[in-house]
Formats: sequence, C-alpha cells, structure tokens
Amino acid sequence: MSRTLVLAYSGGLDTSVAVKWLTERGWRVVAFMANVGQGGPSSAAIQRAKAAGAAKVVVRDVRREFVLDYIWPALQAHAVYEGKYLLATALSRPLIAKHLVEVAHQVKAKAVAHGCTGKGNDQVRFEVTVRILDPKLSIVAPVREWEFRSREQEIAYAKRHRIPIDVTKYRPYSIDQNLWGTSIEAGVLENPWTAPPADTFRSIRSPERAARRAATVTVGFMRGVPMHLNGRRLDGVALIERLNAIGAAHGIGRSDVMESRVVGIKSREIYEASAGTILLEAHQDLERLVLDRELLHAKQGMAATYARLVYNGLWCTPLKSALDAFVGETQRRVTGAVRLKLFQGTCQVIGRKSPHSLYRKRLATYSAKDRFDQRAAEGFIKLYGLPYEGSGQ
Ligand code: ARG
Repeated sequence: MSRTLVLAYSGGLDTSVAVKWLTERGWRVVAFMANVGQGGPSSAAIQRAKAAGAAKVVVRDVRREFVLDYIWPALQAHAVYEGKYLLATALSRPLIAKHLVEVAHQVKAKAVAHGCTGKGNDQVRFEVTVRILDPKLSIVAPVREWEFRSREQEIAYAKRHRIPIDVTKYRPYSIDQNLWGTSIEAGVLENPWTAPPADTFRSIRSPERAARRAATVTVGFMRGVPMHLNGRRLDGVALIERLNAIGAAHGIGRSDVMESRVVGIKSREIYEASAGTILLEAHQDLERLVLDRELLHAKQGMAATYARLVYNGLWCTPLKSALDAFVGETQRRVTGAVRLKLFQGTCQVIGRKSPHSLYRKRLATYSAKDRFDQRAAEGFIKLYGLPYEGSGQ
C-alpha cells in the first residue's frame, strides 16, 4: 500500500501539477481545499485534482472560523505589517495548516504538502504551523524541489499528463485571494518603478472611476466585533462581503507595497482590502473614544509586534496568545458605532458614539457650559514641568 499525503490544493497551476508530480513519486494524494472566501472551490478545480491523480478531494468551508478566530483578532490588534499590509494571505495560512493537519489525521496520512515556492513567506507559515501542531508529519514542498524552471514547463507537463488546465485563465501575476483581501505579485510588478497596469486589480475600482457620489456607512461594534452594517445585523462573513463590495465601488483599499519578507528579500506586492481598510479605520476610531490614554498608547505600541508575528508565521506561539489575551481584555469597552464617508479612494470617519465614551462635552467645550477648572491647570503645569526647569540653559 502506498503512503498517503495531504496536499493543500488551490486548483491553480502549481498545485494541479503537484498532484501528479507527487503521485509519480509514490504518494497517494488527498487534495485538501479550504474555502476562505476566495470565491469557493470550483467544481472545475475539484475535477482537475482528480484528473491529475488525486485519490480524494476534501473540501472544507472555513470562512466562519477564519472570520471569528483569525480576522477579528487581527482587526482588534490593528495588525498591519510595515504600516501597509492588512495580512490577508498571512492570516489564512495557519488556518489552512490547522485543517491540513486535521485532515492528515483523518485519512491517516504520513505527510502533508503545499505549493509554495522556496522564496516566499507562505512556506514558512505553513511549515512552522504544521510542525507546532504535529512534528511527526513529514512535509513535502514540490515547487521547491521539482525540475520545472518556468510556467511554460509546468503547462507542458500538465498537457502531457492530460491535466485539464485552462491556459488562457492564467494571468501574468501570482494571486492569492480570500475574504480579507487579495495579494497580487510577479510579472511586470517585479519592477518597483512600474505603475501597476489596470489589469492588476481584481475587484477595487480605481479612484478615478469610482462612484461619483459619496456613500456613508455605519459600522456597529460589540466588544470589538463588527456586528451591524448600516443598522442591519449581519454575521461576520456577510458583513465583510458586503463591505468589500461597497468599498470596491468607491475605490477603497488598494495599496502598492515594498515589503520585507521573512527570508530576507524585498518584494513588491499589490494588495486589495476594501472591508479591512474600512473596518480598521472604524475600529481604531472607536478605540480612541473609549480607551483611556495609557491603555490606548500601550495597545498602539503592540500592534506592530502582533503584525510581525502574523507575517512571520508565528500565529500559534506563546507571545501571540499573550497578546491576544491583552487585546481581548481591551475590547470589553469597544462597543458603539462609527460613521464613515467613502469617496473616490478615501475613507474618512465622520462620526462616532459609544455607551462607554470617555468624551465629556462639559469638560471639552469652549462654550459657557464649560465645567473644566482652568485654574487647576496652573499648578498642574508647574509640577509637570518641574523636573526640567532651567535645564535648557
Ligand atoms: N506577500 C504576501 C505575504 O507574504 C502575499 C504572499 C502571496 N502572494 C501572492 N501574490 N501569491 O503575505
């Protein structure tokens, strides 16, 4: 009996070719597809896996889990890598790895495999997570090992083995997509000076072609979790999908980024994240209203660390759990609503409210209703500046 291996299969060229390549090396291949909101595993992709020699295709819809256990915690932590990347791809990897391990146990596999190259971050994220969860599983990375040196060679191999790939479908980019966003790289984008051509973007309209009239959206949060959109209660998946559609029409959430990969190189990536951009603006704003200064600043100081852990594939680690506990504690007050205006690529907060608001109009006002004791400021400033008095001379 041949040994069983579970492959994280996307339906794209690399993993389709990988199915056949692995069977040629004696593996009984179970193809695992996770629905993370990339449009869902198509029946063509499932057929392709079988045509390529997969003994079985396992499909799991993990969108809800993705939102509740990965996207919301990252949103609440304000996880943005190097100030620009909302981590859509990075967040999906530990989730897919977790299910890959579960499926491997189910089918009594000895190994798992993925279709990542040896230059990227995703191999690190998959493999580190798999090894944390089950170090006994072997890991095979066909794309890192095989003989193909170009896309054309892979296509020729696929044709030779009658794997039904639609060559016209492959754009000259490498694309990864899920509910939280889309990552696009390679092709002409490899020149960092070249502006992304119009065909780079998947869903978000260019600001020049965005809707001519502004839209206002209201996001309601309960303990840091987005629950309402324009007053309607929606589950997380629906809320993100809806906000992606609205934001895309208004040109919100495109970015063009030079980023520092785990493996040490710089790369250029184009991102699309409409819902993420809007929700992040809204969530940050609500926290400014409800968290006291010290807590707010301490939390802001941790956001970059959290983002780095996610980016670097360290999702299932003690520091990340400890940060989750901290962030979770801060979210108890983050209930309320934020109103935003979307217009031709910009997303601006125009109003916010909360039952836990720390804003006191009677203290902030410049009108006659002022209750702030301005005379107390004099003594406060005297002591506050005392340690430095005369030190500038
Ligand atoms: N650079 C991003 C990351 O490391 C995206 C990687 C996948 N990108 C892609 N275009 N296939 O998270």
